[in-house]
Amino acid sequence: MIVRIKRQDNASSESYYQEFEYRGSGRDTVSHILEAINSADDLRDAAGRAASKIRWECSCLQKMCGACAMVINGRPALACSEFIDTDKADVLLLEPLSKFPVTADLITDRSCITEHQKEAVMYLGKRGRPDRREHDQQYSAAKCLKCGLCLEVCPNFAGPEGRFYGAVLANEAYLLASSSEDRAKDIAGEYKKHFARGCSKSLACREICPAEIQTLSSIGYMNRK
Ligand code: SF4
Ligand code: FES
Repeated sequence: MIVRIKRQDNASSESYYQEFEYRGSGRDTVSHILEAINSADDLRDAAGRAASKIRWECSCLQKMCGACAMVINGRPALACSEFIDTDKADVLLLEPLSKFPVTADLITDRSCITEHQKEAVMYLGKRGRPDRREHDQQYSAAKCLKCGLCLEVCPNFAGPEGRFYGAVLANEAYLLASSSEDRAKDIAGEYKKHFARGCSKSLACREICPAEIQTLSSIGYMNRK
């Protein structure tokens, strides 16, 4: 199988594609394939030319941290939980997320996710009495990995500089508003400004979320607020 990778040496350099040969044995995750390619002492591309190690990010390798988010065969996904049938596939195409600045190769700078939350003052105030009716949805929203896959597929998220902050903020707003009575009003205002006014209800975020968060329920709660 050929692994075709979109590479970029640093944040300001031009991108280019480089191909590597990979011989797998059945179903391998993309993270395993990248580790195997990088394990070569003398890494060579498919044409036999010397190549530098492929830079990508991972931490948990268990679909829990969101670090390995990238575009795999044209679809945003987590490298550690995306299985490829290496006996059947001829080509595996790996590219960095397109809505965030590229730092190097498959690594993107997603710090805007945290910056947006800070700017929208999304932090918990005095915690209210637990509401049994919201418990399941709070558990769902709290599973957000901040991976950014929902932002990558959202037709309204324009990148770090845009005013629309996407499904990450909708879930965070719900989580805080449903737990904090004294902050609910402020949070509802920020939700309106950075989510409700920009969302066109494509719900692409719901289809792509690796944590299967019920974002629609978060949106429904916040819209009622
Ligand atoms: S809502 Fe889902 S897709 Fe979006 S950042 Fe959180 S875990 Fe990732
Ligand atoms: S390495 Fe943590 S989600 Fe993939």
